[in-house]
Amino acid sequence: MERVVIFGSQGLLGTALVAQFKQSFDVVGLDRKEIDILDAKQVTKKLGELKPKLVINAVAYNNVDEAEKNDDAFEKARELNGYAVETLAKITKKLGIPLVHFSSEYVFDGANKKGYAEDSHPRPINRYGETKLLGERLLTQSTDQYYLVRLSRLFGTPGLSGLTKKSFIDSILEQAQKSGQPDVSVVNEEKSCPTYSVDLARLVYEIVVNRQPFGIYHGANSGACTWFELAKEAFASKGLAVKVVPIKGNAYPRPAKRPQFGELINTKLPPQRSWQDALRDYILH
Ligand SMILES: NC(=O)c1ccc[n+]([C@@H]2O[C@H](COP(=O)([O-])OP(=O)(O)OC[C@H]3O[C@@H](n4cnc5c(N)ncnc54)[C@H](OP(=O)(O)O)[C@@H]3O)[C@@H](O)[C@H]2O)c1
Repeated sequence: MERVVIFGSQGLLGTALVAQFKQSFDVVGLDRKEIDILDAKQVTKKLGELKPKLVINAVAYNNVDEAEKNDDAFEKARELNGYAVETLAKITKKLGIPLVHFSSEYVFDGANKKGYAEDSHPRPINRYGETKLLGERLLTQSTDQYYLVRLSRLFGTPGLSGLTKKSFIDSILEQAQKSGQPDVSVVNEEKSCPTYSVDLARLVYEIVVNRQPFGIYHGANSGACTWFELAKEAFASKGLAVKVVPIKGNAYPRPAKRPQFGELINTKLPPQRSWQDALRDYILH
């Protein structure tokens, strides 16, 4: 059985990747308590010992607003989302093996209502997006054997690690159930494509086992929606009688600007199922 090393194996996406790849690979999942991905020496040594046939990097710094307002957080984001990717890309290149890495629709400015294909021109409008673009650039400059998979609005069973980011879906359902309030206000802006962790993990698996050409892929579920539309669908799927009230983005100010139209257009692979089907599957099972 071929070995796959997954960094960030206890995060939201990492957990789904481990479950999917276990089906036919010898998976070694590593998270921050086993190895600090910022320690290049340790990472080189570990990969030299494990001799995997593939490395998947699901590590990230994902706190968009913290990176915007706090210079230390921005620096941490640059390290984790940028320079650590360069280190991994250089090591995997030396070992002659492919690297799978993930990025976000936040590398785009969101001004194009038609959305963004794999080769669209990136132009981030916030600092988190800058750090994801830094990772993309360092990856593609450092190795030819890469799969760069972009996604947005990840949801799915929460990761096992303590600091893993809770998805919008889980947060909003939990909040409504705890507060017992009959209505909730949600921003009716920022169109993008929700991504179910299980569907994305399966897509990555298929890319790898089918030996798709190296390059950039868009792995989100099909269709796009605003936060308001997503919340409405989540409550309906859960059977909760919560009234969702649409509000404007400026009624809920946040430090970082968000792309208004961040639809990720997939031109290379068969389409993923719709985000509504994926959401129902997640909520009901
Ligand atoms: N979540 C989204 O909505 C979203 C949207 C677009 C793109 N993405 C991308 O999707 C990918 C996966 O994101 P995710 O939401 O699954 O992330 P996540 O749940 O926050 O998981 C990240 C994992 O990385 C680990 N980690 C952090 N620092 C580390 C270090 N120095 N060394 C080793 N491991 C470390 C974390 O461990 P600790 O918890 O112990 O720190 C955690 O298990 C990322 O590339 C992200 O940018 C996510």
